[in-house]
Amino acid sequence: MTDTPDPSDAVPFRRVIKSYVLRAGRTGPGQQRAYEQFGPRFLLPYRPEPLDTTAAFGRSAPLIMEIGFGMGGATAHIAQVRPDDNFLCCEVHEPGVGALLKLCGEQGIENIRIFRHDAVEVLDHMLPEQSLDGVHIFFPDPWHKTRHHKRRLIQGPFVQRLARHLKPDGYLHLATDWEPYAQQMLEVLSAEPLLVNTVTSNSSGFAPKPAYRPLTKFENRGLKLGHGVWDLVFKRR
Ligand SMILES: C[S@@+](CC[C@H](N)C(=O)[O-])C[C@H]1O[C@@H](n2cnc3c(N)ncnc32)[C@H](O)[C@@H]1O
Repeated sequence: MTDTPDPSDAVPFRRVIKSYVLRAGRTGPGQQRAYEQFGPRFLLPYRPEPLDTTAAFGRSAPLIMEIGFGMGGATAHIAQVRPDDNFLCCEVHEPGVGALLKLCGEQGIENIRIFRHDAVEVLDHMLPEQSLDGVHIFFPDPWHKTRHHKRRLIQGPFVQRLARHLKPDGYLHLATDWEPYAQQMLEVLSAEPLLVNTVTSNSSGFAPKPAYRPLTKFENRGLKLGHGVWDLVFKRR
């Protein structure tokens, strides 16, 4: 693994450490068309003021937030197998947003709305506490190098904010294929007083993969090579 410079290290008075670095990546012509054609229907503008979710989705339904959906394949699948839930999905990577817009438009998926914006800001400035029925964070960037661990999403203060935004009984579902991060997730979630592990039947603390989360191609390949994947499902007390 090459030791690429961390852009945040070059900024002396950085105020906030981001969990992502915007990757260069070409938005393909199909994704570009999806922005034009389907953006007005599915994209929500970031504004630092409370979001009217009923107006945004055109209905009132349980609200699940997804942070960092990548190319959106799992997101589209889950929204289709859970048509009675609303999915508020955040991603900063432009081609990924284009890819999910394309899936939503072409497959007529009505229960997804998308922010192309930092999910941390959406959570902090647009959603009140106790407003979410669930949060999905699948394969968040593991930030392998020790000096980059500060960028990991799953750390105590952010998990506390996530927990406060859950309704009582709301759930937090995480998945990762990086074992040291899985252990960190388990420690951080177990230490949060508002959360309780849904898994009591085994001593590991990790959950069986919930049926709604599809196996991605990448994950399937890893599993065949003997690599692990860890799911965690905690609930707000
Ligand atoms: C390793 S990828 C995993 C993508 C997808 N969940 C999957 O399972 O394939 C992590 C994604 O999280 C996004 N991400 C990281 N921090 C974010 C943030 N604060 N807000 C929105 N997206 C974020 C990144 O842009 C990246 O696409």
